[in-house]
Amino acid sequence: MCGIVGYVGGQSALDVVIAGLKRLEYRGYDSAGVAVLADGGMAAAKKAGKLVNLEKELDSRPLPTGATGIGHTRWATHGAPTDANAHPHLDNAGRVAVVHNGIIENFAALRAELAERGHALESETDTETVAHLLAETFSSCGDLAEAMRLVCRRLEGAFTLVAVHADEPDVVVGARRNSPLVVGVGEGEAFLASDVAAFIEHTRSAIELGQDQVVEVRRDAVTVTDFDGAPAEVRAYHVDWDASAAEKGGYASFMLKEIAEQPKAVADTLLGRIDAGGFLTLDELRIPDEVLREARKVVIVACGTAFHAALIAKYAIEHWTRIPCEVELASEFRYRDPILDAQTLVVAISQSGETMDTLMALRHAREQGAKVLAISNTNGATIPRESDAVLYTHAGPEVAVASTKAFLTQLVAVYLLALYLGQVRGTTWGDEIRAVVRDLARIGEDVERVLETMEPVRELARSLADANTVLFLGRHVGFPVALEGALKLKELAYMHAEGFAAGELKHGPIALIEKGLPVVVVVPSPRGRSVLHDKIVSNIQEIRARGARTIVIAEEGDEAVVPYADHLIRVPVTPVLLQPMVSTVPLQVFACELATVRGNDVDQPRNLAKSVTVE
Ligand code: F6R
Repeated sequence: MCGIVGYVGGQSALDVVIAGLKRLEYRGYDSAGVAVLADGGMAAAKKAGKLVNLEKELDSRPLPTGATGIGHTRWATHGAPTDANAHPHLDNAGRVAVVHNGIIENFAALRAELAERGHALESETDTETVAHLLAETFSSCGDLAEAMRLVCRRLEGAFTLVAVHADEPDVVVGARRNSPLVVGVGEGEAFLASDVAAFIEHTRSAIELGQDQVVEVRRDAVTVTDFDGAPAEVRAYHVDWDASAAEKGGYASFMLKEIAEQPKAVADTLLGRIDAGGFLTLDELRIPDEVLREARKVVIVACGTAFHAALIAKYAIEHWTRIPCEVELASEFRYRDPILDAQTLVVAISQSGETMDTLMALRHAREQGAKVLAISNTNGATIPRESDAVLYTHAGPEVAVASTKAFLTQLVAVYLLALYLGQVRGTTWGDEIRAVVRDLARIGEDVERVLETMEPVRELARSLADANTVLFLGRHVGFPVALEGALKLKELAYMHAEGFAAGELKHGPIALIEKGLPVVVVVPSPRGRSVLHDKIVSNIQEIRARGARTIVIAEEGDEAVVPYADHLIRVPVTPVLLQPMVSTVPLQVFACELATVRGNDVDQPRNLAKSVTVE
């Protein structure tokens, strides 16, 4: 939440910062602002609303050109999304500018203290207190990095801060506790950003910052310390994301592009995980096989779409390993005092690797002695860093706020994990593992085929532009798919949408059914557990008898559903547990099209941000 960029080097800082903010706008778009050091002073501009408003402001009131600058795109926490509350925040003399991601929990006390000393604070934000504290501290120590260290020691909460001071025109200073911050090291230039996407067009050399560290960047030097000033160890790494991955590449939205990228994302996530004999080799798992063999319980924590991947993981893990698996919303987990020990394997699923609820859940699990495995799409993010082991998904950068390709790759990762647990514990036969791995390797082509047949789904979505409510039903692994379909529709089309286990319908929700109500039903395969299939066919008849307009997602060749489907969406035949890989895709397309036809911003839905770094 909130995107931050800092730059010092030979280019126009304003141009670099604005380009970086464009890449980070997915992190929040309530307001945007920049500050540039030029001609011995500070120049700043900020505007409520999306970045485009700030760009218009800069066209009408250009800033002087300077080589050092910072910028921010906001997801509001303290204070409404107004010009005054937009970052950067400056001290009264206008010599310090600071941008912030996170929440400073003791800001009320700090604010009162500053007011007593005669500081005039103009915004409702917690961040402005930091600008004033930095200015005050700098005036006594004369060094921005030292001032930042001293100020950070007084702050409580989660924060990433980036600041500049007009008296140190060649320096940008950052600080990090809980929220993300990475350094980009170029030739005679350096960057600070919430995410490498902000600088990959300039450099692929990055440095990961740890918890409670302060960094000072100059054109040709990066110095990292802890909050007490002791030199800190840092990890340098090469960013292998292609810069074009963060561009729309001819698509109308990032979401459409990311939906189309799913076959490749799935293939990339499988790459290198299977040896010549067809066995799984998850070398990056730093948890020894003995620990996995002795695990008595798996607990998965995640939020939103990642939570739906976790629900599907439960079916796969329990089926292939016979270990009990619990799934819990990360935001609820630590507050109920869960029973955990050294024989519990906790899996934290997070695309961004920064979700605060998930981070807090994993910290709680580790404190109780459990081993934590992260499934994440972001190299070096806080969640993988703080876990005992990590299984990376290789979806590439996901820019659209609504998750699509990350979800499919999370499914691949949980299937691999389930099979690997089955392999090391001897609960799954080698030939069964090889058969599933072969199916997984083919599934990218199935997703491709689904994508080629989506025009009727788009047409259907357009016909429902004025609907108020859409319900989603599923059974078995189709139930989390129904939840995911409903979530996509809510967040993108701003429609009332709910997902139910089809069997639960008769226990209450069936009262919602009325004439013409669109109900999407995810039908399990008629093969294998055909009893499930028969039961859902009955459920479709029950809702249709009450007037529902049935939209049925069913496997090719499933003729039993035909008489009861007002609209039939076909998906390829897949093994039962893998069906969510194909049945989710039409629901993504459906939500995306409905959002478009309702005039919504598909990539940046209202009130949301991609990386949720507050609890
Ligand atoms: C929905 C969506 C969110 C995220 C959730 C967790 O489309 O994107 O529900 O899935 O905020 O995010 P990560 O996976 O980054 O922890």
